[in-house]
Amino acid sequence: MKVAQKPFRTIWPSPRCKFVQIINQTQLPFAFEVLKIHTLEQMVNAIKTMQVRGAPLIGVAAAYGIALAMLEDESDAYLITAAEMLKNSRPTAVNLAWAVDRMVTSLQAAPINRRNMTAWREAANIAEEDVVQNQLIGQHGLGLIKQHYQNQIDPNKPFNILTHCNAGWLATVDYGTALSPIYAAHDAGLNVHVWVDETRPRNQGAALTAWELRQHGVPHTVITDNAGGHLMQQGLVDMVIVGADRVTANGDVCNKIGTYLKALAAFDNHTPFYAAVPSPTIDWTMTDYKQIEIEERDSDEVQFIQGLAADGSMQNVRLFPVESNAANPAFDVTPARLVKGIVTEKGVFSPSDLVKLREG
Ligand code: MRU
Repeated sequence: MKVAQKPFRTIWPSPRCKFVQIINQTQLPFAFEVLKIHTLEQMVNAIKTMQVRGAPLIGVAAAYGIALAMLEDESDAYLITAAEMLKNSRPTAVNLAWAVDRMVTSLQAAPINRRNMTAWREAANIAEEDVVQNQLIGQHGLGLIKQHYQNQIDPNKPFNILTHCNAGWLATVDYGTALSPIYAAHDAGLNVHVWVDETRPRNQGAALTAWELRQHGVPHTVITDNAGGHLMQQGLVDMVIVGADRVTANGDVCNKIGTYLKALAAFDNHTPFYAAVPSPTIDWTMTDYKQIEIEERDSDEVQFIQGLAADGSMQNVRLFPVESNAANPAFDVTPARLVKGIVTEKGVFSPSDLVKLREG
């Protein structure tokens, strides 16, 4: 990704592997701030407060969290403590537990006095794999967009893609998942336009997706979360593509709250609905989506909204009476029957065929 024309990733280690740097996503789109993370505790906090967020990115951040822990103490006991702290930081995205388990397996096989070095190497491997997987998702998704684009009746009309939340550069190390095909299509000269759901309560669509699409020059329009169904009825959405935090073995897609309603509207309007995920987002152990732990976040995220005040400061504004209750489930599940395809680094699979990805 490029920020003001300068190449960036969302996370990277210091040259001598003493700390990790991240883009602080809680400040976007109004301030671009890079934070230095020196300790395990700081990394746990960065994940919990969503300074880093997005399923693939929190997996990589957790892997670097283990590397930071190994700078502090290379013992078995501390490795297990660090793994538990990281796994408890956010429950829904399977990438986090997957990355932590991979780090623990790799470090348990290494001599204790070499764990620090091994941990930084393995975390870097996980980060690199994420970049490659997302780049490939972009290419497979581009093929899909081209197919739908060619079927379009009016070739002069933009190809309209609706997305929810942020599944772009900022949710991964680079390229993004759902946005990777969109960047590839734009770079290939296709006339794509993106409807960006604002994605209450934290507004990852309005704050992050719109910001990064603008950095890349992709035409887009931010809409309220409830506008998608209406736009589909008007024939103004050609495709929906979202990311995911966990996909079950049978193709149910757990993603940001509100995704399910978009999928229902898409189904009713014969609008193809796709999810784009790298394989670490697939939980092969789960076939019943009811087993997925849905993160319940602080109700303050519903009660307040963050924005830029006239004096240029970031401010939180209360939206409704303090006496009213608020609930804040962060994710929902779109059943496989509503999903036309799952775009992965190995190709596009129908949900019922997803198991073939594992086999080969
Ligand atoms: O709570 P977040 O911002 O970490 O949630 C991220 C999402 O749900 C995104 O929609 C995304 O698809 C998953 S990450 C590519």
